[in-house]
Amino acid sequence: MSRLNVSQWMLGAVAVVAFAAGVQAKTLTISCGAVGAEKQLCEEGTQAWAEQTGHDVKVVSTPNSATERLSLYQQLLAAQSGDVDIFQIDVVWPGMLAKHLVDLSEYTGGAEDAHFKSLVQNNTVDGRLVAMPWFTDAGVLYYRKDLLEKYDQDVPETWQDLTNSARVVMAGEREAGNDRFWGYVWQGRAYEGLTCNALEWVSSYNGGTIVDADGKVTINNPHAREALALAASWIDDISPRSVLNYTEEEARGVFQSGNALFMRNWPYAWSLAQSEDSSVKDKVGVVALPKGGEDGSHTGTLGGWQLAVSRYSENTEEAADLVLFLTSYEEQKRRAIQGSYNPTIPGLYKDEEVLTAVPFFGELFETFKNGVPRPSSVTGESYGRVSNAFFNATHQVLSGEAEPEQALSGLERQLQRVGRRGW
Ligand code: GLC
Repeated sequence: MSRLNVSQWMLGAVAVVAFAAGVQAKTLTISCGAVGAEKQLCEEGTQAWAEQTGHDVKVVSTPNSATERLSLYQQLLAAQSGDVDIFQIDVVWPGMLAKHLVDLSEYTGGAEDAHFKSLVQNNTVDGRLVAMPWFTDAGVLYYRKDLLEKYDQDVPETWQDLTNSARVVMAGEREAGNDRFWGYVWQGRAYEGLTCNALEWVSSYNGGTIVDADGKVTINNPHAREALALAASWIDDISPRSVLNYTEEEARGVFQSGNALFMRNWPYAWSLAQSEDSSVKDKVGVVALPKGGEDGSHTGTLGGWQLAVSRYSENTEEAADLVLFLTSYEEQKRRAIQGSYNPTIPGLYKDEEVLTAVPFFGELFETFKNGVPRPSSVTGESYGRVSNAFFNATHQVLSGEAEPEQALSGLERQLQRVGRRGW
């Protein structure tokens, strides 16, 4: 019997055993992200569960832009469609989607206690655990070690340092013949990713978090204006104008092909930058994002994804079981090693195999633990509108359609209107 046949035979045997035990094989559908290697990792994980249980799992992929993904989910859930059993949801969505999701605490047997408390709290809405943490995220700075060395530049401490080094290296590389070389690539499209980038700039200048923990709109302040003005100055200087249409993958494409000195991205980009076919393999360093000024702070927006079971699923029990499997220690360890996805179980940050594969998980542990949250808990169901207003105002400043002062006072009025009767 060939290898394939053996494993097919074993699969069949599992199904027979399950059937004999009176368990009916089900087909579950999970919607997974498809950014970088995400879809493949999701398929491998769900396949392992299917082999163990005799059930089938269908993986459907979703748009890469978190904003587009949210509107797709909202349509499916508003129609009370049972087509998707398990949704991969963003850390900022529990408040918006809670009413469509199952309370998982009835199925977990306390498994959530092994995860970061702040995430479990984030995923608990009105006392219901609407999602299990799957991986966490924080924005980080990728840089080319070889080029900083070649041009005798330090790893930047402040955004101004970053801007200066980017100019020096860009001028040199262009003179040497690479006219596609840029200093800094990031996510500037008008979507959720820009909210994450801009929140980093603002909070690195100590300019707050758009709306504070008490629900007060704080975005119209001098630190925020300074931060946006600096970012706008990058366009056509150290960043290409096309960055205004970049999501994570466009930025990674430029950096990974060797055409940028710095990149802002999430940790997933590490394992791809280190892959065999990457032009920058072994030439990349990762550090916390720069501070606003000398008295600013290193920040990184808290991101990350959770797994939730739809209230309209007809396979709730099996779906909850698959969620527990995918969010378990072993599976998070596999995803950390193979895809540099940040675990949500603290102990994995001390695991030698994980740290060998992704050294900065140890070095930047504090950055990951103290990621700056977007104001989604306080604004609840209104978060989508808050973020949309923020990324649109920011995009106008970046593209030169508005001055920071004008954009931020307009944004302030708009947000105050949204929050007027409480968020
Ligand atoms: C990453 C983050 C997520 C964020 C998204 C924005 O996927 O994990 O939280 O909303 O990027 O593009």
